[in-house]
Amino acid sequence: MAKMKEMFDLTGKVAVITGAGGVICGTMAKALAKAGAKVALLDLLESAAQKVADDIKADGGKAIAVKCDVLKKDSLQAAKKEVKAEFGKIDILINGAGGNKKEATTSPEMPFFDLPLDAIRFVFELNFIGTLLTSQVFGKEMADNGSGIILNISSMNAFRPLTKIAAYSAAKAAINNFTQWLAVHMCQNFSKDIRVNAIAPGFFLTEQNRFLLTEEKSGQLTARGKTIIEHTPMGRFGQPDELVGTALWLLSDAAKFVTGVVVPVDGGFSAFSGV
Ligand SMILES: NC(=O)c1ccc[n+]([C@@H]2O[C@H](COP(=O)([O-])OP(=O)(O)OC[C@H]3O[C@@H](n4cnc5c(N)ncnc54)[C@H](O)[C@@H]3O)[C@@H](O)[C@H]2O)c1
Repeated sequence: MAKMKEMFDLTGKVAVITGAGGVICGTMAKALAKAGAKVALLDLLESAAQKVADDIKADGGKAIAVKCDVLKKDSLQAAKKEVKAEFGKIDILINGAGGNKKEATTSPEMPFFDLPLDAIRFVFELNFIGTLLTSQVFGKEMADNGSGIILNISSMNAFRPLTKIAAYSAAKAAINNFTQWLAVHMCQNFSKDIRVNAIAPGFFLTEQNRFLLTEEKSGQLTARGKTIIEHTPMGRFGQPDELVGTALWLLSDAAKFVTGVVVPVDGGFSAFSGV
């Protein structure tokens, strides 16, 4: 058996992370770099990815920021070329780009029946098609190499939908299904050394959900924010660095025989019936 520390070591691995300029994946990128990986930070917002890359480099790690749109295959292909030119190979993919949008959220002013199609499509595509397209482009590399690890980012909405956010919930449910599908497909058709898993984060206060969970002016919890805390046995929102341990486990040899699973990191939210 490998030594405990070696089991979680990512030295020499190259990781591509989408949405890496964001709160959750920026935190994961920093952790992967600390574990020894060279990280390529892909984001539509290049300045956000660059900031994370600068922090990693200042800390002695290896990172590059790459402008990329996960909804455009040519943009993903160009990013892949750039990562390979810089780091020579690709071992890990984290599909982190995603999020909800106010315009795709029901409210007293915006009933379900009037939700605009473009907003619904935007949210569904960003969260599902963005992961599928990125997995096609970088998964092909893994299939050609006969090894690799993909980590998708799901959500509590995937198990049971939350109110108000139909497109986001449906897209994250599709992520769970796709995680299982791709895990099986890679093993059956390409290599038993390609693993595909997902993390389902509970509630982390970030830019995409702040408007739903806290009042804009006072910063106090909204009724929805309070309900979430009441339904989280640990009684609080999560901190992004609390996702790191699970990510490192799934991305390292410590999870060598784990594929096709979705792991909740949620302070007990998904276990609690509410009674
Ligand atoms: N915050 C939470 O509580 C929570 C809970 C469950 C799941 N998640 C999921 O975690 C992931 C990260 O969320 P976050 O809270 O860090 O969000 P965030 O908004 O901080 O980060 C998302 C990043 O994705 C980038 N992005 C958006 N569209 C893109 C595109 N087309 N191509 C490339 N990059 C694009 C954004 O520029 C941003 O930097 C998302 O998939 C989200 O759905 C978040």
